[in-house]
Amino acid sequence: MSRIALVTGATGAIGKAIARQLAEHETFEVVLACRYEEKAQQAVTEIQRAAGNPNVRYELVDVSRHSSVQALVNRWRGPLHVLINNAAASPRQQQETPEGIELQFATNVLGYFWMIQLFSEQLKASAPTRVINVASYWAGDLDLTDLEFKRRRYTNGTAYRQSKQANRMLTVAFATRLKPYGVTVNACHPGDVNSRLSNDLGFGGQTTPDEGADTPVWLATDPAGQRETGKYFEQRRETRCRFGEDTAAVEALYAACLAYA
Ligand SMILES: NC(=O)c1ccc[n+]([C@@H]2O[C@H](COP(=O)([O-])OP(=O)(O)OC[C@H]3O[C@@H](n4cnc5c(N)ncnc54)[C@H](OP(=O)(O)O)[C@@H]3O)[C@@H](O)[C@H]2O)c1
Repeated sequence: MSRIALVTGATGAIGKAIARQLAEHETFEVVLACRYEEKAQQAVTEIQRAAGNPNVRYELVDVSRHSSVQALVNRWRGPLHVLINNAAASPRQQQETPEGIELQFATNVLGYFWMIQLFSEQLKASAPTRVINVASYWAGDLDLTDLEFKRRRYTNGTAYRQSKQANRMLTVAFATRLKPYGVTVNACHPGDVNSRLSNDLGFGGQTTPDEGADTPVWLATDPAGQRETGKYFEQRRETRCRFGEDTAAVEALYAACLAYA
């Protein structure tokens, strides 16, 4: 029986490498969660060929919009064994989604939150299952009183670092809630990869997309990824995460995200 993996941002540098590496495990059926149909179809064809696995398909979703994530969940049939939250954006100018939320918070934070929350019934029903949140070591300056940069001056670097701190905090919040159901939730830093995202942030990147995909794919496939939960990993190694240790802040962020549903 194949295991079903859903990967967001699978047209991007790291996401496409994650999806292809998973498809190379013949036990996986891989679903690419993408925004644009043409790009999605191209990525499916490329990954099917490269991995030699025909069981690759796409679903269209804009993770920055609650209504779009909900629509994907509503039309989802069958089990879900691995969810990899990886889609992210970091526009240089402050932008809002059609639902009126600052774009980077909506995509990088609420996108991860909604994918886990709204798919939680499928994840529980298919257990043992795993969620992997692609975060970053470049994280910090989260302000619980100004998550959407209404008071602070927006710079995309600050908003990005906040969002990646939030990914790591929410990993702990969901891990606690889903542990009784056999669903593990872990976060990781992928590596510094040259991508649109890293370029928007003013960086290049010296590791390859395949190297960047290594730790997320390891968490999705190695027994460690089912044994451990609520942890943060760099280069396959559990790494202390001070953001996840502040339980009051973790719970406050979880409650703030819940209010956006
Ligand atoms: N690159 C690095 O050095 C680095 C370092 C640390 C952590 N990371 C993390 O790694 C992850 C992947 O980054 P990357 O470097 O591979 O970036 P990337 O190449 O720019 O890819 C980003 C992906 O996210 C998708 N996406 C953006 N907004 C979306 C939305 N609203 N709905 C659905 N999909 C959306 C993009 O889709 P489109 O193709 O449709 O735009 C693209 O597939 C991110 O979580 C990032 O924070 C990256």
